[in-house]
Amino acid sequence: MSQIESLSQIEEKLNNLSLTSKNNIKNAKDHYELDQLRVSLLGKKGQLSVILKSMGKLSSSDRPIVGQRANLIKIDLQDLIIQRKNQLTKEALDQQIENEKIDVTIPSTGTPPGNKHPLISTQDEIIDIFCGLGYSVESGPEIETDFYNFESLNIPKNHPARDMQDTFYLDETKLLRTHTSPVQIRYLENNPPPARIIAPGRVYRRDAVDATHSPVFNQVEVLCIDQNIDFSHLRGTVLTFLKTFFGDIPVRFRASYFPFTEPSAEVDVKWKGKWLEVMGCGMVDPKVLEKLGINSEKWTGFAAGLGVERFCMVRHQIDDIRRFYTNDLRFLEQF
Ligand code: DAH
Repeated sequence: MSQIESLSQIEEKLNNLSLTSKNNIKNAKDHYELDQLRVSLLGKKGQLSVILKSMGKLSSSDRPIVGQRANLIKIDLQDLIIQRKNQLTKEALDQQIENEKIDVTIPSTGTPPGNKHPLISTQDEIIDIFCGLGYSVESGPEIETDFYNFESLNIPKNHPARDMQDTFYLDETKLLRTHTSPVQIRYLENNPPPARIIAPGRVYRRDAVDATHSPVFNQVEVLCIDQNIDFSHLRGTVLTFLKTFFGDIPVRFRASYFPFTEPSAEVDVKWKGKWLEVMGCGMVDPKVLEKLGINSEKWTGFAAGLGVERFCMVRHQIDDIRRFYTNDLRFLEQF
C-alpha cells in the first residue's frame, strides 16, 4: 500500500522537518512570526504531530525508534525557539537603547543666559565703590515704624518734611519706609561709633507714576561717624564716589535742608547740559546722635542718600524710570 510509510520515509520526513524548521526558527523576524512557527511545528495539529500520527502504521519495533527521534527533534526545536525568543528580546532591547540614546557630547542649542537687571548692576557698582572706601553693607526692614522712619530722624508729627515723603501707612504706627535713613538709627542703636556703613534697599512713596516717579524705588544710604569728621570729609567722599562712578563730570553742592542733617546739601551733576540732582547729604544733626545716647561733642559724622534709579538713568542715558519695572526684554537685553 502506497499509503503505508516505511520507517525510512518517516525518518526522512522528520529530518527534513528538523532541517527546514531550524532554518525558519533562526530567521523568524519577530515574536509573532516565531509563535506562529511554534504552533505550526509543535502544536496539537502541528507538523510534528501529523508525522507522528503516521507512526501507527509502523511495526511495534520501529515505533519507539521514530518516537525517540521525534522527541529529540521536539526538544531540539523547543530549545531553538527559546533561544531565538531570547535573542529577539535582546535585539528589541538593544534597539530601544540605541533609539533612546542621549549623546551628552552634542553641544546644546543654548538656553539664553539671564543677566543682571541694570538697577542691580548699578547698585552693585555703588556698593563696590563704598566698600573700596572702607564701608560695610547693612540693611533694615522695608516695613518700618513711624519712630524709625520719622521721629528718630528729627521729623516729628506735623513736621512739614513729612509732606515731602507722602507715606504708605499700614496702620497707626507701621508704614512702608519712605527712605533708607532709618537704617542709620537702627545701626547706631546696636553699634557704638565709629561707623562707616551703607544701606541699599527699596523705599516707597505715594507718588503717581510718570517718567521720573515710581511708588517704589531704590536708595543707598551712607553713614560715617567718627571723631573730628567735618564737611570736608563729606565733600571729599562724595566727590571721590561721583568721580569713580561717572568719571570727570561737573559736580556742585547746593545748600538744602533735611531735618536730620545740619548743614545739609543736595548734590547735582551736569548731564545733557543741565544740572541734575543725584543725592542729598549733610552733617548728622547732633540732636539725632544725642537721642541715641551718643556724645555729639566727641562724635560727629555725615550722611548721604542717593537714588539708584537716577544713577542708572544717567549712566545709560535712560529717559523714563518706568522702563526699569515693565520687564520688556527688548530693553533689558541691552545691558
Ligand atoms: N532720606 C533723604 C530722602 O530720601 C535723603 C537723604 C538726605 C539721606 C540727606 C541722608 C541725608 O542720609 O543726609 O529724601
